[in-house]
Amino acid sequence: MKLSGKIALITGGSRGIGLATAKILSENGAKVVITGKNKERLEKATLEISNSIGVMGDIRNTQDVKNVVSKTIEKYGRIDILVNNAGVFPKIKQLHEIKDEEWNEILDVNLTGQFRFTREVIPYLQKTSGSIINISSDAGLKAYQGFNADAYSASKAALIVLTKCWALEYSKDRIRVNCICPGVVDTDMTKPFLKTQKDKEFMNNEHPIGRIGQPEEVAKAIMYFASDDASWITGAVLAVDGGESLK
Ligand SMILES: NC(=O)c1ccc[n+]([C@@H]2O[C@H](COP(=O)([O-])OP(=O)(O)OC[C@H]3O[C@@H](n4cnc5c(N)ncnc54)[C@H](OP(=O)(O)O)[C@@H]3O)[C@@H](O)[C@H]2O)c1
Repeated sequence: MKLSGKIALITGGSRGIGLATAKILSENGAKVVITGKNKERLEKATLEISNSIGVMGDIRNTQDVKNVVSKTIEKYGRIDILVNNAGVFPKIKQLHEIKDEEWNEILDVNLTGQFRFTREVIPYLQKTSGSIINISSDAGLKAYQGFNADAYSASKAALIVLTKCWALEYSKDRIRVNCICPGVVDTDMTKPFLKTQKDKEFMNNEHPIGRIGQPEEVAKAIMYFASDDASWITGAVLAVDGGESLK
C-alpha cells in the first residue's frame, strides 16, 4: 500500500473533496485525521473512513489549529501529509459591494487558515520529510466573466504562489509542497449554482470535457502528490478541471 505507515492530516475532511481525500488516503494505508467545525458532520465522516479520527477546530482560530496538531501528535506521534483543503465560498457580489467583514472572512479561512495549519505542521514534516498539498482553485489561475467572487479568487491565487514559496523554503528539509486547482466539483459548496437543470447544463458546458467533476477525481490527484509516485515533484500547480482553465 502506497501510504502504509503514513499519518495524514486533512483540513475540512468532513465532506466534499476533503472527505473523498480522507477515504482514498485511508484505502491506501494512511491513518487519517480529519478536521472541521461542525461536530455532527465530523463524527459522521469518521464513521465512513477506516483508520480515522476527527478533531474539531475552527481554522480561523490559532488555538484550535494548535489543538488539532497536538491531538494528532498525541495519538500518532508524527505527521507525514498535510492537505490544506478547508475552504468557504462567498456570496456573489461585485467588488464595490463587498463589506470589509465579508472580504476578511474569506481570506481568514481560505488563506490565513492554510498559513496557520502549515506553520503548526512544518516542524513535524521536517522530521518526516513529508508532503503538503494545497487546494486552490481554477479561480486562482485566471479571471472568469461574471464570476464575481474576488476575495475567493485572491485567496486561491495567493495559495498558488505560497505553494511555490513553501516548496523552495523547505526543500532543504525534503518537504514537497504541491497545489491542485479544481474546476467546478459536485459538493455542498457548489450546490447553490447547480439548482436547476439549466444551471447544471451551463456548468457542464463550462468544462471542455463536458461535465463538472466529482470529489473523487480531485482526491485521486491529491493521492498522487501525497505518494512517492510524486517523489521528485515540488512546487507544481495542477489543474484538475476538465479543461476549464484552458478556455
Ligand atoms: N467544489 C468546488 O467546485 C471547488 C472548486 C475549486 C476549489 N475548491 C476548493 O476545494 C476545497 C474543498 O471544497 P469543497 O467543495 O469540498 O467544500 P465543502 O463541501 O463546502 O467542504 C468544506 C470543508 O471545509 C470545512 N470548513 C469550512 N470553514 C471552516 C472553518 N472555519 N474551520 C474549519 N473547517 C472549515 C468544512 O467543515 P464543516 O463541515 O465543519 O463546515 C468542510 O469540511 C475548498 O478549499 C474549496 O475552495 C472547491
